[in-house]
Amino acid sequence: MRLTHFFVFTSLFFLLLPSIQMKRAGKGKGLKRARHKLTQDRGRVRGARRYSRSGLSGLVSPSCSELKESGMIFMDCQERQLTFIPPANSWFRKPRHLLLALNQIKILQDGAFLGYDSLISLDLQQNQIFQVEEGAFQGLTRLKTLLLQHNRLTTLSDEALISMPNLRDLRLNGNPWKCLCPLESLIRTLQVPSNRNLGNNARCAEPTWLKNRKLKTVDPELLCKDVEAISHRTGNNTSTFEPIPLRGKADTASVCHTYLFPHMRMDCSKRGLTEVPSGIPDDVVQVDLSHNSIRRLRLKDFQGASGLRILNLSSNSMEHIDPGSLFGLLHLQELDLSDNNLHFLQYGVLEDLYFLSRLKLGGNPWVCNYSIHYMVYWLRLHPAVKHSGLWCHSPSEFAGERVEEYVHSYNRECPKDRQPSRTDPDMLDSVNWGTPMELQGEVEEEELEPSNLRAPQKYEVFRLR
Ligand SMILES: *[C@@H]1O[C@H](CO)[C@@H](O)[C@H](O)[C@H]1NC(C)=O
Ligand SMILES: *[C@@H]1O[C@H](CO)[C@@H](O)[C@H](O)[C@H]1NC(C)=O
Ligand SMILES: *[C@@H]1O[C@H](CO)[C@@H](O)[C@H](O)[C@H]1NC(C)=O
Ligand SMILES: *[C@@H]1O[C@H](CO)[C@@H](O)[C@H](O)[C@H]1NC(C)=O
Repeated sequence: MRLTHFFVFTSLFFLLLPSIQMKRAGKGKGLKRARHKLTQDRGRVRGARRYSRSGLSGLVSPSCSELKESGMIFMDCQERQLTFIPPANSWFRKPRHLLLALNQIKILQDGAFLGYDSLISLDLQQNQIFQVEEGAFQGLTRLKTLLLQHNRLTTLSDEALISMPNLRDLRLNGNPWKCLCPLESLIRTLQVPSNRNLGNNARCAEPTWLKNRKLKTVDPELLCKDVEAISHRTGNNTSTFEPIPLRGKADTASVCHTYLFPHMRMDCSKRGLTEVPSGIPDDVVQVDLSHNSIRRLRLKDFQGASGLRILNLSSNSMEHIDPGSLFGLLHLQELDLSDNNLHFLQYGVLEDLYFLSRLKLGGNPWVCNYSIHYMVYWLRLHPAVKHSGLWCHSPSEFAGERVEEYVHSYNRECPKDRQPSRTDPDMLDSVNWGTPMELQGEVEEEELEPSNLRAPQKYEVFRLR
């Protein structure tokens, strides 16, 4: 601990040295005072001082980290207490992605991003931005993604967006929008049908009669009309202008935090969700839904989330997974179902998960009866899947036993004539699954897609009809 303090102090001291010496030479201000200033201006020190140094030395600012992912340069300046946009010449190489989330930026000034012409995505979420000047985004001609959610914006001119002709994805939710006349032009822009992913889920905070209304659905005609005339016209009958409560299924864009690095990740944990939120974009790689209250996964819950590789559903008191709810997750590699209330997985639940390599099942009250055999067969057919936590919880005679052991002993004890097939003692009678199955015999690997990545396996394949 002490060592760390010493280290931090020493490094900050050396960092400050040039400025201290300058001050001494100039006005003769003492070291003590400079050090005092250091604590006050820590954010700026870690920002400005280092940027100017790096500007001179041509190295990446030590206060941000340059990361490379899929050949693209990410500049990660998240949680650095920055109050300004680092100038473009701070960087040795031009970043394609600039992460500035979780800082203390308040105003985006004209020309703040000049020199950032190679930028494709810009993450400014969770700052304190309340003002964006009209020329703030000048020069961002290649920008496709702009994240401004969870700031303090009440208004924004659509002029600010004009300098970004390639903008496809603009997040504005989590800002207290004032749906008044100055916002009219932006609202009209967002409502152009081709601007499908601009400003979805941004909602009015004011005025009262538009509270919680999505910017996308506000009638722009009403915004610049005489406010009195509107209230007069509505009179006692305010039914059409009542605040619209948030209802229906939550949307990921409004309840989850999106992170761009090292891959698109959505953190939706601990949000009190009772359902899987809708609208997981297809480029999201990881979704954390842990510590919610999702009792059941339903058909199409993950529709469209075709890029998902890691899905965390742990700690949800989940009781049921509808067969088909995980369909479409062709690239899922890791599935965490631990600490739920699952008794077994129904036939078909795991069928689409061709690339699964890790399956966490611990902390569930698995019931060792015939219904659980499906999981064991599926795992046998997919030896590449590493799983953990599959232990019988009940009935008492099997409690504490591995589920595979239970199925094995079940088959050993099962009299020959009750066994469903002579060719494979493990094969199951379709009636018991309640789902029509078909024995395909020795099916060629090519029939299982994506085929090229599976090692040849010698087993028989069951197919859903
Ligand atoms: C509005 O109408 C309701 C009945 O629809 C009535 O009870 C109420 O007094 C009216 N309020 C005003 C301010 O006129
Ligand atoms: C309010 O207006 C709506 C639509 O204009 C109408 O259907 C409704 O009956 C009105 N309610 C009252 C209380 O006047
Ligand atoms: C899922 O979330 C839990 C709780 O936050 C965490 O302990 C676990 O490691 C996560 N699982 C995966 C696969 O990331
Ligand atoms: C196995 O146990 C579960 C949970 O108690 C029950 O829903 C299911 O019907 C049982 N399956 C069989 C084949 O008895």
